[in-house]
Amino acid sequence: MKVIRTVNEMQQYMRKRKQQGDTVGFVPTMGYLHEGHLSLMDYAKEQSDFVVTSIFVNPLQFGPNEDFDQYPRDFERDEQLAREHGTDLLFYPSIEEMYPKNDGVMLKVHARTDVLCGEKRPGHFDGVVTVLTKLFHIIQPDRAFFGLKDAQQVAIVDDLIHSYFFPIELIGCPTVREEDGLAKSSRNVNLSESEREEAPKLYQLLLHAKEQAVNGADPKVVEGDLLKGLKEVRYGHVDYVQILSYPDLEPIKTFHQKTIIALAYKFENVRLIDNIIVDEQ
Ligand code: PAJ
Repeated sequence: MKVIRTVNEMQQYMRKRKQQGDTVGFVPTMGYLHEGHLSLMDYAKEQSDFVVTSIFVNPLQFGPNEDFDQYPRDFERDEQLAREHGTDLLFYPSIEEMYPKNDGVMLKVHARTDVLCGEKRPGHFDGVVTVLTKLFHIIQPDRAFFGLKDAQQVAIVDDLIHSYFFPIELIGCPTVREEDGLAKSSRNVNLSESEREEAPKLYQLLLHAKEQAVNGADPKVVEGDLLKGLKEVRYGHVDYVQILSYPDLEPIKTFHQKTIIALAYKFENVRLIDNIIVDEQ
């Protein structure tokens, strides 16, 4: 596995690869890799000749009071894991490399940002699409692999790809979970022991909500029950509970379309998100 840290070298290298006719699969990450990230590399390996993974904790997508400084980092461990999971090239740029001093252009997301994490984290998705646009241009992948754990991100990246005519196929991949159901996340290491014990309840509540949806309940009732259940979780507070159409993220009156049941819950130092997508009932 090769490691490249500069944009220039990356562009030169990728140009050669593309000339050889290789299909390129791309897995963008912020590192501190876990089985969720690694599953994306496995899918990428199956579906491409050459797999590029990027590790970059993108300051632009963190709000001023968010956990940029506390975000866990361990490059040596990540390098080892990426190698074991079929990454051929690891792109590991510095902040100065991705955002040079004279860099004065940013993208803005207009649709789907008034709900879920977009509403709670102003500017977050502007930072995500800005860094991804840079990465897509540098790497020029044929396919990009994203986790549905961040389902709003998948919907917005799909829009980015269409809006800016990137010749990239977006592949949304299933959420990988701990044995007790907690969605894997780099942030889970920042949960206290007692918070970690409570955290699986988030997924249990989502499963219950899905069952209600499948049994024809009113979305308002499902949302109310989910909120009530979440309020009983200890050591933190609810950030949001929302039930919306997917991928448009519009309000719904019935479950007669593909729907996302999504939540965010804030423990002391960690904000966790999770969701379930329910097919049309
Ligand atoms: P990060 O949180 O590191 O996640 C990288 C990718 O891994 C995303 O596509 C995310 O959805 C996926 N992922 C995370 N947890 C997962 C899980 N439990 N199961 C399956 N996939 C999972 O998302 C980002 O980084 C950034 O916003 C990024 C796209 C890299 C732009 O900076």
